[in-house]
Amino acid sequence: MRPIPLSDADRGLLHGRLSGPLDTVATAERDYLGKHVSGETLVVGGCEDRTQEYADVVSQVTGRKPTVRVSSATTADAVKANEWFPDESPTYDSIIYTKSKMAWFARPTEFHRLSELLATGGTLLSSAKWVPDSDRLQMEQIDLLDPLGFEPPQSYLRFSRVQSTFEDSWTPQSGETRGDGGVVMQQQQGRGTGPPRRLPRPFDTDEEQRGFREGWAWHEQLRETVKQLVADAGTVANICCGSNRLGDIRIDLTKEYTNRGGTGQTAATHLGDGRNLPLQDGAVDAVITDPPWKIPYEERVALFSEAVRVARETVIVNAWWIPVHPFVTLNRIIPTTANVSETDLGGPGGLSFLSVYDVDGQQSKHNYSLSDHFEIGGRKAMSEIVTDCLQQHNHPNIDPRIRTTPSAFACQHCGTAPNGSTRIVGNETIHHCPECGFPNRFEDLKPA
Ligand SMILES: C[S@@+](CC[C@H](N)C(=O)[O-])C[C@H]1O[C@@H](n2cnc3c(N)ncnc32)[C@H](O)[C@@H]1O
Repeated sequence: MRPIPLSDADRGLLHGRLSGPLDTVATAERDYLGKHVSGETLVVGGCEDRTQEYADVVSQVTGRKPTVRVSSATTADAVKANEWFPDESPTYDSIIYTKSKMAWFARPTEFHRLSELLATGGTLLSSAKWVPDSDRLQMEQIDLLDPLGFEPPQSYLRFSRVQSTFEDSWTPQSGETRGDGGVVMQQQQGRGTGPPRRLPRPFDTDEEQRGFREGWAWHEQLRETVKQLVADAGTVANICCGSNRLGDIRIDLTKEYTNRGGTGQTAATHLGDGRNLPLQDGAVDAVITDPPWKIPYEERVALFSEAVRVARETVIVNAWWIPVHPFVTLNRIIPTTANVSETDLGGPGGLSFLSVYDVDGQQSKHNYSLSDHFEIGGRKAMSEIVTDCLQQHNHPNIDPRIRTTPSAFACQHCGTAPNGSTRIVGNETIHHCPECGFPNRFEDLKPA
């Protein structure tokens, strides 16, 4: 399967890992890398410190020092000129790619060059927030660490290197070198499969933006997927509709937008603010919503809370975060890509999730207000969090909104705070005390 389009992939493509109450991000990442990284490893990052952190974890979990490359190149030209890609490439069993900022046009080049460095059968893990497309790599899984909440989850796209028919049949012309991403791209485009590629619309990476941008419009495949999801719903409200015409009531902050000198109309039937919808509680059967991605946390919470308030049955969100809320049940997460044009679904668009929720209909039973939601969204006093954690430990789905830190607990034997390092014994998680070594089960720990 090619990585894109993702939303057609079977459900096994997406895999999430919810942390236990004492897990730290570092624990979760170490477990994850320990499972998927082996042999000769290359770590590529854009930032010195973060790349070195990854390298240290790799040394711990594989017992070998990885090769480390820090590259600040983010444009296509800079990536092509990057001399650390050698002509005669060594091959690695594992590659970890952690660069987060990369211009649209630079992404394919960097990825093709990286894929050349991966041994057949090897694993490439990318924590970039965009979805690469490559003939040489097969996407195995999208792994999400702590996927639920209002921040984009730490995601890893896991690829394996497939036998490359293209490379086998390609004879370099004079002056062409194997490591050159530009050449690879030319060769690929010359193969003539599929419709001709149009230049992608650039991905805006600037500061917070709320106004509509042409590049935010859903591509046809995404429109169709959402249409199918609400096919049986009665009344549908489309909040933050932009140019999308799905839904009986369509709400956007703006009616007109300007883009690249031109003017366009949003598809809004009503002007309105999604954070304070002009609709009664339970006014529609389903809400679909595609908020701008770079709005602050509080706005994300407010938009989702309003969507839940006005929906009787279903809420569907497209975002790079996966919201949580006390009165909905998350039914399905469909990975997808955004910021790709109709004819360039294979481009390296941003990773997003269509999250599909059933509304639990508890609004009437609870005296619900936004401030309740904020509390549950992670703003509780530490003492309440500790109590909740202790109470909920045996619940099969520990509420992932409730977070705490190891320092809130103490070893039952000597009173030292656990350091987050855990071991699974049978089906129990054991927290070894860093001071006396006592193997605490979670319920053995005392609140500090
Ligand atoms: C990502 S775009 C939606 C694109 C749309 N799915 C499409 O296919 O064209 C987000 C839209 O949300 C609108 N918007 C931003 N903040 C909003 C708010 N608070 N309430 C309602 N709409 C908002 C923007 O004007 C923009 O049109």
